[in-house]
Amino acid sequence: MDTASRLDRMIARLSAQRAHIEAAAALIREVPGPVLEIGLGKGRTFDHLRKLLGDREIFAYDGTLHAPAGAVPDPDHLVLGDFRETLPAAMERLPAPAALAHADFGSEDRARDAAQAAWLGPLIDGLMAPGAVVLSDRELSAPRWTAIDGSGRDWPYFLWRVGPRP
Ligand SMILES: C[S@@+](CC[C@H](N)C(=O)[O-])C[C@H]1O[C@@H](n2cnc3c(N)ncnc32)[C@H](O)[C@@H]1O
Repeated sequence: MDTASRLDRMIARLSAQRAHIEAAAALIREVPGPVLEIGLGKGRTFDHLRKLLGDREIFAYDGTLHAPAGAVPDPDHLVLGDFRETLPAAMERLPAPAALAHADFGSEDRARDAAQAAWLGPLIDGLMAPGAVVLSDRELSAPRWTAIDGSGRDWPYFLWRVGPRP
């Protein structure tokens, strides 16, 4: 039986998220390009990304805006609308292919998340530079991605290195 409380699970999730974001920021040190925050939500991870990677442009995506005013990107770096519509057009706004994408779109509905993951991976892949890193709270896949071991932490979080274009 899982004896972890909801509070324990929340702490584990947020700790894993912060550790993986920090690992990903280190992994892209030599990779030029902007950062994509796919799931702005309340702006917690966006705020952490900009603390770590303040010298990069960070573009944030969500269906609707529900982050507090202090954690909202400027209008040139905020794209609202369903990912299915905003991500296929995202390259038009990016200055270059992205060095890092953080896809934080998970909900309590695992079946919905899995269905979304199936189309989200390829859409994200189309925006990424060779050598870039993709980080997500749900398992994604694309043919040119290689999983980076993210084990050793007590909450699943997923990290991939993007290979060259075929
Ligand atoms: C787990 S929350 C993001 C939390 C955020 N990263 C933070 O630290 O505050 C997931 C977000 O993804 C957004 N989302 C999920 N599926 C979406 C879709 N298909 N299109 C647009 N936004 C979506 C939700 O609106 C929600 O704000």
